[in-house]
Parts: sequence; structure tokens; C-alpha cells
Amino acid sequence: MDRIRIVGGRKLEGNIQISGAKNAALPLMIAALLTEETLTLENTPSVADVGMLLRILSHHGVDYSVDGRRPGDQPHAARTLHLSARRIVDITAPYDLVSKMRASFWVIAPLLARMGEARVSLPGGCAIGTRPVDLLLMVLEKLGATIEIEAGYVHARAAKGLVGAEIDFPKVTVSGTHTALMAASLAKGHTLIKNAACEPEIADVAACLVKMGAKIKGAGQSVIEIEGVASLSGAHHTVLPDRIETGTYAMAVAMTGGDVLLEGAEPDLLRNALDVIGMAGAEISTNNLGIRVRRNGASLSPVDVTTAPFPGFPTDLQAQFMALMTKANGRSRITETIFENRFMHVQELARLGAHIRLDGDIAIVDGVAELQGAPVMATDLRASVSLVIAALAARGESIVNRVYHLDRGFEHLEKKLGGCGAVIERISGSN
Ligand code: EPZ
Repeated sequence: MDRIRIVGGRKLEGNIQISGAKNAALPLMIAALLTEETLTLENTPSVADVGMLLRILSHHGVDYSVDGRRPGDQPHAARTLHLSARRIVDITAPYDLVSKMRASFWVIAPLLARMGEARVSLPGGCAIGTRPVDLLLMVLEKLGATIEIEAGYVHARAAKGLVGAEIDFPKVTVSGTHTALMAASLAKGHTLIKNAACEPEIADVAACLVKMGAKIKGAGQSVIEIEGVASLSGAHHTVLPDRIETGTYAMAVAMTGGDVLLEGAEPDLLRNALDVIGMAGAEISTNNLGIRVRRNGASLSPVDVTTAPFPGFPTDLQAQFMALMTKANGRSRITETIFENRFMHVQELARLGAHIRLDGDIAIVDGVAELQGAPVMATDLRASVSLVIAALAARGESIVNRVYHLDRGFEHLEKKLGGCGAVIERISGSN
């Protein structure tokens, strides 16, 4: 199992190329199941979750090819995927695949909409909370499917096809909104989605579906209207930049001090987080190349944040922000409202010398003058990268274990940080 070794204390200086968003790339790839024609996706990040989803999609019969893996390419070279689901060969998504990556449960919507039937394993437990799929099933039932749960599998059927309906989400859900968009695009008639998730990745997927021939209005806002069509075609789409990767590196620079241009980053995708990083003491400016983050000398100020659906502060940046606040000049409160168990990084940050107390869904962080390097490990992607941020500013050496979590969602992390002067290396092999 690979590990990452970091020697803290270096400022970050230079440029970091922001990759395509993992959380847009995954549903976009799943959308390929909606059409017999080829869907081409540019700027797909080279991360383990994309590789895993390719394996899952090929199980259903998707042929794919990948451009951009040539030797000598820039480490952050964007990759192009061509996905072709001309013939769906299997409508079952088995447990051993779905349990490896929750988002693969989302194949249920396109399989059902196109084939009239899907059998998908329930995803099971997760390190950040219980994460039920009841609202995804509610969507499919509203659109006319019958749902049976048998032996750990969801069996969804709509032999005569799905039918448009009104879907009013009792809570904002990204996965529920993706499901509704994909299923309603091929349903008969009109669908109205209320209280839809407004995350930029939803708007990106909807934009791609529109290129494929779907009739969707309002994606990116809380009310979306869809007029179903009989079939969808192929399309060519470029994945939007990763706002979570952008915010993560912005926080890393705020943590270590320095001056970094986040190339290709789009400020509109994370206004709230950029404001918070600015309040903490970093200077943020934007130009036509991306976002520049600087902190030279100024100490870090404590800032209270509460996670919320877009355009609020993202839960996927909560752990990273907590790492930043461990060195703030005072007390901050970080409230997690999206997932009930997303504080697994707290004990690991404490191993680096952080002072954090949990009170239900609130973490109370008392900043310390110095963190000290230590061996650490984490249980999910964003928690792992929060440990990297803390280690970059800690005195001495840290070893981050379970690097496979990082590899799921951060493309060439050690190369990007190393290119800006961080002392960071991957150690291959068992630990
Ligand atoms: C997406 O997960 C992201 N994953 C998550 O990123 C992200 O944290 C989350 O949205 C919130 O922004 C991908 O895009 C692949 P939800 P998703 O449905 O869609 C509850 C990362 O690190 N809920 O918006 O699964 C749920 O339990 C990952 O990249 C139900 O109750 O999130 C949660 O409390 C982690 N019933 C809330 O809604 C349901 O049927 C929001 O979940 C579905 C969700």
C-alpha cells in the first residue's frame, strides 16, 4: 500500500493546474448509458474513481477508449474518454462493484430509463455517514417504476417506460437530482423537479444531456423542468474544473503561506469558500488564467463555517478548512450539516498536535502555534487531503497512510504540490 511522506514547513510557490471535476465526470460517464451513440468527455481527471467506473460501465456493455495517456505528457494532461453504450449487455450492477464506489449506484436511472429494468446492489455503509438512497428510489417510483428490494438488491421495473411527474425533494440531494435528470430525460411527458440541488456539477451534467438532445430548463437552480424525449444521441462535452480541488489547494497555500496560481480554476464555482479563505487571511485575486492565492506573513484568523448545499460552504471542503483552522490565531467553530459522521479526520489532526473538541455536529478548533509531524491515516478522500494540508505546515516528517483514498479523487497530488516547493513524495509498497 502506498504512503505519502511530507516534510512540513515549506511555503508553496508556483502554478497548479486544476483538473476536471471528479464529481461531474462520474455522472457524465454514467449518462453514456442513456444513448446508443458515443459520448466524448474531455478534461476527465485521471483519478482512481474514474478508472473504477470505467470497469463498472464495461460490465454493463459500454465500450470505451481513452486518449491522452501518451508517455511524455504533462503530468496533469487532460484525458479524453469516448464511451459507447451501443448495446447494454447486463442490467445488473453487482455488489462487489457497487460497494467499491457509491456513485455507481446511480447507473440505476439510465439503465431503467433505457432498458425498462435495472437490478442494482444497495451500496451499503460509508465512512462519512449512513448515506441512504431512499430519495433516489422515490424519484424512480414517482416516474412510474415499481421498486422491490430483494437480497440486498434494488430491482426497478418500468416495462412500458417511465412517465414524467412532479418531484419535490424533502431535502436537497445531489444524487437524487442527478437521478431525476437522467431518468426524466427519457420519460414520457413533463417532469417538474422542486428543491433540486444547485451544485455546478448538476448544471454541467444537464448541459451535456441537452447536447445529447434532452429538453431541460433551469438546471443549476432549485426548480428544473424536463420534457422527456424518446431517445438521446451522442455528444462532445468538456468536464468543468474541480471546485473542491481548487479550494483544497487554496487552503494549502493559506496554510503554508506563499503564492500560487491555480490555473484553470473558476471562482464562480466556489465564491463562498474563497470568501472564507480570504477572511482567514489569504489574499485571493482572479485573472483570466485562474485564481491566485497568496499569504505572506499575516497570521491566520479563526472563521466559523457551516456546511450547506451550493452556494453554501461545501461539505467536501470541511476537513481541509478544519486543517487550516488548527493553526489560526484563536477559536473557530465548524458545523457539518450534510453528513452526520464526517469528522473522522479530527482524531488524526490531533495526532499532529491540533486541539479540536467535538460537540455533536460542531467541531470547536483552538488554533495552536505549531503542528508536529506524525504518521496519520484517514478514512475518506477529503479527510486524507486535510491531513496532507496539516502535514505541509507541521514541523518535521509526516507519513500519510492509505493513500488510495487520495488517489480516488486527486490527480497527481504529490506532483502538483511538489512542483510548488513542497517536500512530498510517494513511497510505494506495503507498510
Ligand atoms: C455528492 O454525494 C458527492 N458525490 C459528495 O462528494 C458530496 O459530499 C455530496 O454530493 C454533497 O455535496 C459525488 O458527486 C460523486 P447527496 P451524494 O445526495 O450525491 C442525504 C466526495 O468526497 N440523502 O447530496 O451522495 C445524504 O445522506 C463526495 O467527493 C438521503 O437522505 O450526496 C446526505 O445527508 C463525498 N437520501 C444528504 O442527503 C437519499 O436518497 C446529501 O446527499 C440521498 C441522499
